[in-house]
Amino acid sequence: MDVRGAKVVGLGSYVPERVLTNKELETMVDTTDEWIVSHTGMKERHIAAPDQATSDLAYEAGRAAIEDSGLSPADLDMVIVATVTPDMPFPVVSSLIQARLGASCAGAFDVGVGCTGFLYALAAGAGMVQSGMADHVLVVAAETLSRVVDWTDRSTCVLFGDGAGAVVLGPGEPGEGIKAFSMISDGSNWQYLKISAGGSRKPVTPEAILAHETCLYMEGHEVFKLAVRGCPEVSEAVMQKAGLTHDDIDWAVFHQANRRIVEAAAKRLDIPDERVVCDVEKYANTSASTIPLAMDELYKAGKLKRGDNILLASFGAGFSLAGALLQWTK
Ligand code: ACO
Repeated sequence: MDVRGAKVVGLGSYVPERVLTNKELETMVDTTDEWIVSHTGMKERHIAAPDQATSDLAYEAGRAAIEDSGLSPADLDMVIVATVTPDMPFPVVSSLIQARLGASCAGAFDVGVGCTGFLYALAAGAGMVQSGMADHVLVVAAETLSRVVDWTDRSTCVLFGDGAGAVVLGPGEPGEGIKAFSMISDGSNWQYLKISAGGSRKPVTPEAILAHETCLYMEGHEVFKLAVRGCPEVSEAVMQKAGLTHDDIDWAVFHQANRRIVEAAAKRLDIPDERVVCDVEKYANTSASTIPLAMDELYKAGKLKRGDNILLASFGAGFSLAGALLQWTK
């Protein structure tokens, strides 16, 4: 018997109002607009207001995706949120938004993988729809990296922004919609990107705060090397699983961490620039949210056509890699 398909039936995103430009960063740390643009392609990023938490961003993106799907919140069977910046250690962000959205019949759980989190959450949601465990799943990525970056460390604080993106998944014909996933982890490289304190190994103490161990730490150069190699690798793997080649790809949406990484991945995969999405100059790196945010940009610009093959690929803390291949059916 053919397994039923899972497809995207709704898409939405949200970024906070406040825009932090490179020029403004020049007044905060020893950096320049020229350095940031030439090394990353970033020009500005959105920053959550003091009274906005991750669940507020997740709620807005989730609401927009549900509205776009034409469904009612009560139609949802599951809410999954990908985030590494939850409102608090627990309860999960997905529970908070499940209630606020009025998704009265849905279960809820979070996925905390990091930048690849949206694709892991998408895989979990798609699997539930394909197996018949759920009919409609809301998959949200939401991050407030501004709350965990070290605003005195110029090598990281300029790179991140806040934002959220969401999709609603629904059932399709066998083979319709989501075609394949590929997920690979290399835990031996976990030390390059982390927040050391605030968990069971090193609880928050005054000493940890003074040592900036409650903030994001990244060895950018090491992550860059892993990303430039890993992003094309996982893209090849997922295209192979879907039985497609680079010629079949209408849109490539890679994790938006650095324009140079996006360009290097596209070049290695031989995908022409006009089919590659890069919005890093407007939003910087919003961790798990970059992929659904970029997809929503394409969608709102009217660029996605029914039948388009979309390659999604991401990399991040862990060290974690994930790819997905989906056909646009809306
Ligand atoms: N302004 C000015 N100078 C800076 C800044 C800054 N904001 N940041 C670093 N520098 C300096 C460094 O101190 C260094 O100076 P030195 O040569 O005197 O020591 C110099 O610039 C070059 O530093 P590099 O680290 O070699 O610069 P590089 O070209 O590698 O770019 C960057 C750094 C942008 C961080 C790059 O390595 C990168 O993008 N890495 C990957 C990051 C990434 O993908 N992260 C996301 C993965 S997962 C996630 O999304 C959470």
